Amino acid sequence: MKDCFGRNIDYLRISLTDRCNLRCKYCMPECGVDLMRHEDILSLEEIVRIVDIMNAMGVTKVRLTGGEPMVRKNVVKLVEDLHSFSTIEYIAMTTNGLLFEPKVEELVNAGLTAVNISLDTLDEERFRAITGMYGMEIVFRALQKSCMLGLRTKINCVPVRELNDADLEDLAGFAKKLPVDVRFIELMPIGCGKEYEGIPSDEILDRLARKYGPYEAFAGKRGNGPAKYVEFSGFLGKIGLISPMSHAFCGECNRIRLTADGWLKLCLHYDIGVDLKTLLRDGSSDTVIKEVILEALEHKPQAHHFAAPTGTHEDVRKMVQIGG
Ligand code: 5AD
Ligand code: SF4
Repeated sequence: MKDCFGRNIDYLRISLTDRCNLRCKYCMPECGVDLMRHEDILSLEEIVRIVDIMNAMGVTKVRLTGGEPMVRKNVVKLVEDLHSFSTIEYIAMTTNGLLFEPKVEELVNAGLTAVNISLDTLDEERFRAITGMYGMEIVFRALQKSCMLGLRTKINCVPVRELNDADLEDLAGFAKKLPVDVRFIELMPIGCGKEYEGIPSDEILDRLARKYGPYEAFAGKRGNGPAKYVEFSGFLGKIGLISPMSHAFCGECNRIRLTADGWLKLCLHYDIGVDLKTLLRDGSSDTVIKEVILEALEHKPQAHHFAAPTGTHEDVRKMVQIGG
């Protein structure tokens, strides 16, 4: 399916819950967020129905996010159900890794294609300072098991001047010894992200080149999104840079989002979208829902304006309510 700018939309990011078992400083306000009411959160059956409808419209890739998707019950069953659509070719998850390790095998057997594990530091004390909890060793184990089972595994790190400046080179070092891509995501001014200073991708690359020597741009295809990859010699994995702040990439946007309470969200930055939950629950047919989705795509914003916000239609949702 195409949006109003002719962009092909084939990727749906599904937030399964607005709950999270961590409290990352740049993501979750200290006082927490107003949690969605349980009855407002889509059931797994409702999610499967939306994917079924969108799959028929051309969505072939999905990602499960949160909050933390693994706090939701029956995620394995959801993956299994999504895997049963023969033209859903890619089912990925973004997780903080705390609850992941005990379930990796089941998830892989259910059809999970890939996982992004968030990890911002290699120091347990800093891990606690950033996330509010000890748990780095648990995340390591999740990473190792995931690699061992051959699941496509990436590390996501958000470089923040005040929080993990000292960790970035060592985090990149994971891609030297393990076949995982390490991706650095520029901090976006969403929710508490506004209170911190992100580190630009170009600075990261300079620093990595100083430590690991020259790199080459990776020309091959990797992933479905805006990450640019580079290769350092002797590394098993690649280094990815996701640069929403310093390099515009909205022209190639291929994605839409579904929040846990069933809002079809058309752009990370804006609240523009449509409430699918009501349609799912008022007896609307698949045809009607499809029409509403197509109509909504006519309003997908052309680009985010995080660097120079216009102030209109800016989403007030926090990152934990969107899922990245
Ligand atoms: N900017 C960029 N990335 C963010 N994440 C959370 N908040 C922000 C932000 N403001 C990341 C998390 C996780 C993913 C879900 O989104 O670190 O990797
Ligand atoms: Fe941290 Fe991710 Fe939870 Fe936000 S959603 S608090 S980034 S683990």
